[in-house]
Amino acid sequence: MDKRYGDKVVMITGAASGFGALAARKFADEGARLGLSDVNGDGLAEVAGGLRAEGVEVVSDVVDVSDEAQVAAHVGRIAETFGTVHVALNNAGIGHDVAPLQFLTTGDFDRMMNVNVKGVFLGMKYQIPLMQQHGQGAILNVASAAGLVGAGHLSLYAAAKHAVVGITRAAADENATRGIRVNAICPSFSATPMVEDMADQVGGRAGLSRAQAFAHIASRVPMARVSAPEEVVQAMLWICAPENSFMTGQAIAIDGGLTAV
Ligand code: NAI
Repeated sequence: MDKRYGDKVVMITGAASGFGALAARKFADEGARLGLSDVNGDGLAEVAGGLRAEGVEVVSDVVDVSDEAQVAAHVGRIAETFGTVHVALNNAGIGHDVAPLQFLTTGDFDRMMNVNVKGVFLGMKYQIPLMQQHGQGAILNVASAAGLVGAGHLSLYAAAKHAVVGITRAAADENATRGIRVNAICPSFSATPMVEDMADQVGGRAGLSRAQAFAHIASRVPMARVSAPEEVVQAMLWICAPENSFMTGQAIAIDGGLTAV
C-alpha cells in the first residue's frame, strides 16, 4: 500500500524530544524524508542517527529557531538536498516557571517571544517562499490550549501561544489560494519531558510526586487524564495529510475537552 507521506519532505523543529522526536518517527514510518533540527545537538544526533540507521533519509542541523541565519541555512540545506519542503512542523517551544505574572521577569518574556513566537515566524518566513515556488505545502505550528484560553500561572506562555495562533491565521489567509495550508495545533497537557518538568516543579512545591501532580493537572480535563504524546502526533499527521485538503487557518484543540468547558 502507498504510504501517506511517501516521497514527501517533512521539516520538524524541536525534533530531539517530546512531540518532535515522536513526529519524526511517525512521519518516517509513513514514508517521509526528514529535515530535523533542534538546539540540543546530542538529542538531535540520537533521533536522526536512529532513523538513518533504519534507512530514513534525514538532513539534520543544530538550529536555534530564534536565530534567523541558522533557520535560513537549515531550510536552504533541506531544499538543496531534497528539492523542497512539503510539510513543516514548527514545533520547538519552551515553557517558563509556573507562577503568577508578577513573579515572571522580562527575561522570561523575551525567551517566550524569541523561541515560541519568533521561532514560528522565522520558520514560516523561509518555508513559505519554497512552498510558493512549488504551489503546495502544509504548515503546522504547535501552539497550545494556552493559545486558546487563559492559562493561570502560565501567562507569558499563553501570550506567546496566542500569538502563534494569530500568525497562523494570517499566514493561512495570505497563502490560501497558493496551495499552502497553514494550521495550528493546540494540545493540552501531554506527558512529554517539558510537562514532566512542569509537574515536578509544581508537584515539588506542594509535596506531590510526579504521578500525583499529573493527577492534579488531569482533574481539570473533562477526560480526566493527560494525553499520551502519540495521541497528539496522530492528529499532527492527519492535519498535515494531503487528503485533509480543505482545512486552513484553524487552531485545532487536542485537549481531552479542556477548552470546551
Ligand atoms: P520538549 O521539551 O520535550 O521538546 C521541545 C524541544 O524543543 C526540545 O528538544 C528542545 O531542545 C527544543 N527547543 C527548545 N528551544 C529551542 C530553540 N530555541 N531552538 C530549537 N529547538 C529548541 O517539549 P514538547 O512538549 O515536546 O513541546 C513541543 C511543543 O509542544 C512546544 O512548542 C510546546 O510549547 C508545545 N506544547 C506542549 C504541550 C505538552 O503538554 N507537552 C502542550 C501544548 C503545547
